[in-house]
Amino acid sequence: MVLNRPPMGWNSWNTFGKDVNEKVILESAEALVSSGLADAGYRYVVIDDCWALRERGPHGELVPDPKKFPHGMKPLGERIHAMGLKFGMYSCCGLMTCAGYPSSLDREWQDAQTFAEWGVDYLKYDYCFRPQNRKGEELYRAMGLALANCGREIVFAACSWGADETEKWIGTSGADTWRSTADVFDNWRSIERAVVKQFSLLPYRKKGCFNDMDMLVVGMNGKGNVGLGGCTFTEYTTHFSAWCLFQSPLFIGCDVRNISDEALSLLKNEALIGIDRDEKCAQVYCLPACMAWEEDGDRLFAAVRLLADGGLAVGLFNFTEQERNAVCLLNDLGLGVRSCKRVQLTDCLTGAVSFSRNGVIEAVLPPHGSAVYRAKIISGQGILP
Ligand code: GLA
Repeated sequence: MVLNRPPMGWNSWNTFGKDVNEKVILESAEALVSSGLADAGYRYVVIDDCWALRERGPHGELVPDPKKFPHGMKPLGERIHAMGLKFGMYSCCGLMTCAGYPSSLDREWQDAQTFAEWGVDYLKYDYCFRPQNRKGEELYRAMGLALANCGREIVFAACSWGADETEKWIGTSGADTWRSTADVFDNWRSIERAVVKQFSLLPYRKKGCFNDMDMLVVGMNGKGNVGLGGCTFTEYTTHFSAWCLFQSPLFIGCDVRNISDEALSLLKNEALIGIDRDEKCAQVYCLPACMAWEEDGDRLFAAVRLLADGGLAVGLFNFTEQERNAVCLLNDLGLGVRSCKRVQLTDCLTGAVSFSRNGVIEAVLPPHGSAVYRAKIISGQGILP
């Protein structure tokens, strides 16, 4: 299997944490369908940590907690599949999961088989409690090999948070996605940290092995397991825009059973999702160069990605505390004055169409604000009459 696009879905952790159970999983799956989120592409329903009993069963097998999952995992997976959705689960490569439940260390082949039998389509694989004498790359390769031979196509979603230079070795495990950030909480500083962390990791993102910037906090509004403070809608919009521009997997973390119309329309934004799922999977570049910004530059930047149709995704981002005018020069996009080209810009949020003027793309952005455009290269001087 080669994952040509970043996967999309919903994950239980951000909202439910340890209080995950069959009821909330099924209700959330139903809400994905009834809200239209499934049709927008969010199809994986992932049960995160805290689903198992603390001890394995008599044959060494993982056992779902019968109080939380009274019908077991296979029937639950069948119900999720019957809704046209896909079924995701969670384990860990260390001595136990992050919340202290059994992990798959040295049980990779048995557990991969169990997940396959339960009809699992996606496995999130965490990095807590790695034994001192074992390397992360070996542990991920072990599960990657077991999944590749389990008789079922299971997306392998590595989750080592970019630790121990994950970017340099995760490709050897066959992981389809890899967490390139620490956990994202529901506040602006956390989102900002995740975006800045990406800058040095963007060159490692590629088709078949996508950088996963963690679950989305859009729509959490300070509630739930990671709801630390909440964000403004401007900040949620910038968060979602950055994840799409950087081509991260998109896993909703809010309570989709009680989602606001505002959050729903952002998460369903076709133009942004189209950029996230663009099949070209070209590398992102930043202007000014991301690394410079990371060190001591202004907290105002453009991020750009070539798209499959020959156009560009252009994002302007204002991470300062003031309203600012963000500018991107066509010359820096490869459209010097002698190219005799300019760009037609479609604003992904509003659908408004505009054009580059005097060789620049610019927008006035509020603090923590952004604008993402789909830019079509068209004939004409950079300088408009
Ligand atoms: C880690 C992961 C989170 C979540 C928790 C569960 O912190 O990064 O995404 O899975 O473990 O315990």
